[in-house]
Amino acid sequence: MSYVYKRPELARQMARQLLHPSVLDEGLRSGLFLSGLRRIGKTTFLLNDLIPALEDLGAIVIYVDLWSDPQRSPASLIRDAIREKLSELESLPATAVRKLRRLAGADIGALGFKFGFKLDTLGEPGGATLAQALGEVVDQGRTDVVLIVDEVQHAITSEEGNQMLLALKAARDAINPRPNTLGHFLFVGTGSHRALVGELTARRNQAFTGATSVAYPVLDKEYVAYLLQRLSAEGFTAQPSLDVAVKAFQTLGHRPEEMIKALRQLHFHLPPGSNPDEHLPVIANTLRSTAADIELMKLEQLGGLATAIFDRIASAEGDARGLFSADAAAAYSKAIGREVKVEEAQPVVNELMATNLIMRKGHGLYGITDPFVQEMWRERKAIEGKL
Ligand SMILES: Nc1ncnc2c1ncn2[C@@H]1O[C@H](COP(=O)(O)OP(=O)(O)O)[C@@H](O)[C@H]1O
Ligand SMILES: [Mg+2]
Repeated sequence: MSYVYKRPELARQMARQLLHPSVLDEGLRSGLFLSGLRRIGKTTFLLNDLIPALEDLGAIVIYVDLWSDPQRSPASLIRDAIREKLSELESLPATAVRKLRRLAGADIGALGFKFGFKLDTLGEPGGATLAQALGEVVDQGRTDVVLIVDEVQHAITSEEGNQMLLALKAARDAINPRPNTLGHFLFVGTGSHRALVGELTARRNQAFTGATSVAYPVLDKEYVAYLLQRLSAEGFTAQPSLDVAVKAFQTLGHRPEEMIKALRQLHFHLPPGSNPDEHLPVIANTLRSTAADIELMKLEQLGGLATAIFDRIASAEGDARGLFSADAAAAYSKAIGREVKVEEAQPVVNELMATNLIMRKGHGLYGITDPFVQEMWRERKAIEGKL
């Protein structure tokens, strides 16, 4: 079932706010951050709804997913995406260039894109800066340029990534305040970790201080209704009522894949003559904990020390700090019943990050990657504590 449920109206509204902000939305000129848990449809929404809506208004959109290739640095992924788009623009046929300018409401002009700098050294020492390059795109296109960085929080975990964000901020500050600018450079980021994305916009001296941070609008009742409708059109008989299905979708953290799994189980395992509305909630609850189990199994395989460190992070109010302190080492020792030296923690923390169970959120600060997993961990601990 690979149908995408689209939300064109929501996308149009967001695109308009970004490209033509009212006085109250001026903060969007500093950037927009969309946050929300993993697997709830952020990427799908960007690719299927928001990008087309922005392009319909004549914007040039550059998209890059920092999760697309964990082996490559965020900075080089971003640079490559920009280069690729610029090279694509240079080879656009005249009709496409005219269409772009018409959509943007700009003077059509005769010329296409021709950049006076080398693309292969763009953003590197000796090459054109991102500010120069993006400024050229705005001027030659006579329109707005939107750079969308999916899972942008990966950029703040390395020095190089932070430098990249600063270069993008420099680009924004160089392009947008020009009195007769023909367009703006806008930055949109998403992140699967709300606190971290919040951090990106709130920290002073961070590249996107002042940017607007909003929660990704999760799929809602209408999506569930659409799913049920498709099921009945395909002749599925085990149909729950809309209200019960919506509840199940909430239990499953608004994750479409999990919801489809739940409906499949309902279809294939519902005993004849029984009530779908009674079974779906049970299935949803089971699936919910299975999803966390898969993650927690990875943790188990990393061993006792990893589990103790994970527990320290998961139990912290807000971000965990001091993972490498004497105090922490004493707690790990107590938890696993042998003496743990401070220097043993670092390699294990690295492994926890490599499996994406935890993430670094700043200097010496760590958090659980998936808040859903953290919630399950805490719930179970609370239950064990009562036994
Ligand atoms: N609007 C939608 N309609 C149908 N399926 C969706 C929709 N949004 C997300 N999904 C499905 O949910 C899964 C997770 O979506 P994704 O966009 O990768 O989430 P995120 O970027 O938030 O991690 C994908 O398998 C995707 O096909
Ligand atoms: Mg995504």
